[in-house]
Amino acid sequence: MSFDTSALCPLTSVTSSGGNVAAFPETVKAGADPATRTVFGENSSLATRSELPGVAGRNEWNIPVFDLLSALSEVTNWVSPELMHHHRQVAYMAWNIGEELGMPAQDLDDLVMAGLMHDIGAFTLKKRLETLQFEMTTGREHAEQGYLLMRGFEPFAHAAEMVRYHHLPWQNGQGAEASGKPVSLGCHLLHLADRIAVLIDRRVEVLGQVPRIRSAIESHADSLFNPELIKCFSRRSVQEALWLDMVSSSIESTLRRISPLSVLNLNIEGLLSLGNLFRCVIDFRSPFTATHSSGVAASACTLAGLMRLPDHTCRLMRVAGYLHDLGKLGVPTEILEKPDKLTLEETNVVRHHPYGSIRSLEAIVDLREITAWGALHHERINGSGYPFHLNTGKLPLEVRIMAVADVFTAVTEDRPYRAGMTSDQTRNVLEGMVRSSCLDPVIVDVLVSNFDVVDIARRVAQQSSIDEYKGFIEDISRITANHAGSR
Ligand SMILES: [Fe+2]
Ligand SMILES: [Fe+2]
Ligand SMILES: [Fe+2]
Repeated sequence: MSFDTSALCPLTSVTSSGGNVAAFPETVKAGADPATRTVFGENSSLATRSELPGVAGRNEWNIPVFDLLSALSEVTNWVSPELMHHHRQVAYMAWNIGEELGMPAQDLDDLVMAGLMHDIGAFTLKKRLETLQFEMTTGREHAEQGYLLMRGFEPFAHAAEMVRYHHLPWQNGQGAEASGKPVSLGCHLLHLADRIAVLIDRRVEVLGQVPRIRSAIESHADSLFNPELIKCFSRRSVQEALWLDMVSSSIESTLRRISPLSVLNLNIEGLLSLGNLFRCVIDFRSPFTATHSSGVAASACTLAGLMRLPDHTCRLMRVAGYLHDLGKLGVPTEILEKPDKLTLEETNVVRHHPYGSIRSLEAIVDLREITAWGALHHERINGSGYPFHLNTGKLPLEVRIMAVADVFTAVTEDRPYRAGMTSDQTRNVLEGMVRSSCLDPVIVDVLVSNFDVVDIARRVAQQSSIDEYKGFIEDISRITANHAGSR
């Protein structure tokens, strides 16, 4: 089997004579972090680690829920310009109708959270675009998939319920329950807000569209939508500001002002649980990526231990591994699963993903360092990586470990276009990338010397993820069959 390492190390052919274990200048130790300064700016609180409690000393992380959900939701919209701000628009419209209805503040918060996440279960570009059709007849399983992904993270449990039923028709009141259980009004409100959002034609001036949108919604009273909710929408719809906000590029700041949401105070267990949510959302879009982040996380954590980093840092490396490919949510699944060689344009779209990981999470200050450890996994020590072309002088040890863990996992797992490599082939690839000065020779040497230790950790983690993914697929099949049976 041939393997093109140029994809892993873009300048392989011109730097193949450089770098070996003895000659590698170990200039950047864990602790110096010029990468974060370059990536997040001079004024970043990460400019020097001495300004922080330090990852080694930090035991709690303050995560603004709004920033977190905004990051997760907007990156999923990058798959198509037609989806830009869709999650935010739905959250904003839902909040307005809910406020008109006199909903309590906590319920409004849950609505906004659900609005920001409601379509995360639509994994392919095709499915996402289908959700933009007003009269959706197929593709509603994405609501169940979104629910199954979100429910595992306790702070999102209420919002997950709303996501589950955000396409449930009202059907003259029959929609007030599903599978014998009550369905909250919030679910129907989310449904209404979503359908209003998709009726806006982004190419045309918005105020002139309001009569058409109102009439389309009112014509589906009782059948699709709860008539009481339509009355609230109709009252609020006279406000020009509502519509101008909906199509404004500043909708995020407007939404944040009216509904800032809470701040999660997480300990390391909570952070791992959040990382796990990221992992499932990122990986479960395709059977070909279903175990990737868990493999990278386990390899990075194990390698960090072998490099004698503190246990606490090793656990944080696991979190960084879980979120390292967050930007892949912005890459259509159709490209990720393509069995043939990618076109230049498709390759470039894939190359957006580490940028997406960085930029979508940068607002969460307490996560910046962990974000950088994970998201910079395609940087190479000779400066040939992407998207920042940082070289060894700017890449902290944790980032260099993550890069090795990512290559190691990528070559050992099956991909749509090739089977996973044997251990000998894997060693050859890693050592070739050391010879071409792409990967840190010390870390690769540690990995090769402890190959079985790292490989077993990776295999165990990936087997557990396979089992979890199978359970996820079985749950979807069962729920879909139940829906078909109850029609
Ligand atoms: Fe949807
Ligand atoms: Fe939607
Ligand atoms: Fe990646």
